[in-house]
Amino acid sequence: MEVTLPAPDELPTVLLELAVPHEDIDELVARRPGPQLWPLLERYTELLVQGMGDIDLPPPPPPLPDELGRYFPVYILLAALPHVRGYHRSRGIPPEVSWLTLADLGRNMARHRRRHGTGGLDLLPWLVWHFRGALYQLGRLQFQRARLNEVLGRAVAQAGLPCGPGDPALNIHIPGRFGPLSPGACDASLRAAAPFFARHFPQERYAVATCHSWLLDGQLAGYLPAQSNILAFQRRFRTVAVPQDHDDSEILRHVFVRVPDELDDLPRRTTLERAVVDHLRTGGHWYGVSGWLPL
Ligand SMILES: CC(C)(COP(=O)(O)OP(=O)(O)OC[C@H]1O[C@@H](n2cnc3c(N)ncnc32)[C@H](O)[C@@H]1OP(=O)(O)O)[C@@H](O)C(=O)NCCC(=O)NCCS
Repeated sequence: MEVTLPAPDELPTVLLELAVPHEDIDELVARRPGPQLWPLLERYTELLVQGMGDIDLPPPPPPLPDELGRYFPVYILLAALPHVRGYHRSRGIPPEVSWLTLADLGRNMARHRRRHGTGGLDLLPWLVWHFRGALYQLGRLQFQRARLNEVLGRAVAQAGLPCGPGDPALNIHIPGRFGPLSPGACDASLRAAAPFFARHFPQERYAVATCHSWLLDGQLAGYLPAQSNILAFQRRFRTVAVPQDHDDSEILRHVFVRVPDELDDLPRRTTLERAVVDHLRTGGHWYGVSGWLPL
């Protein structure tokens, strides 16, 4: 597959449209792949854009060899950019939704710097959804075109909705660094979702949205005030009981960016930071919980 990258002079403008942090721009221009890396760039870009627009996506490209460097995933996404922009245009996606969605690249590069202290991107498989036309940010929330799994599908069917396992559903994700999770902003996003997907993906019918997150762990109610945004968000969902292992690392990564060697190393600035640590200290664990809501 033939790929193109923005010319060095054009690259900074494109990177800023994708919210790439300013401190990464010069290095990305300086390290723009030369001819020797072009065959690999073509190969990975082809793997990334395959299945563009499908709801049942092929697996993401295999992990990249370390020697390609911390920035190589960014060049793959840049090479995929004309493909996903073309796909968005073919679906009539408004440009502001397209750019807000793809700007998650910059958010994840900023996260890489917080986590590792260097520029780069270590979450290519996550951004594959955005760059294959499967995920859209509508205001505060991101919505991923997906299918109901067995457990959620059965719960939704039992509640009397006209769908079950395998049927389309919108999987909600909550971007960080986008201000508080205010109920008003969530209302606006949820109100926008059904008409957006009906207009741009009329072949798929979305009656429910799902979410799987540490944010839905009911134990948080023992620590956060009832009016907190996280608890207000929880109350929107009907959760499903699934026997599962605890997942402390997920909440630690989202609240503190990293999993520490010692709990004593963690800051205790906010109610949530104190809650996460105190709960673990007393032998408790945190869980990723699945829930759904009718759209
Ligand atoms: C989702 C999110 C925006 C909610 O933040 P919020 O709107 O401030 O939430 P609340 O109103 O419920 O906050 C209650 C308390 O927890 C704190 N808090 C909330 N999220 C926090 C976070 N990620 N890190 C540290 N403290 C946090 C708040 O500051 C507040 O404490 P305070 O009263 O002492 O200041 C925030 O947690 C976030 O950005 N998370 C990262 C993204 C994420 O985890 N997505 C889900 C992936 S599965």
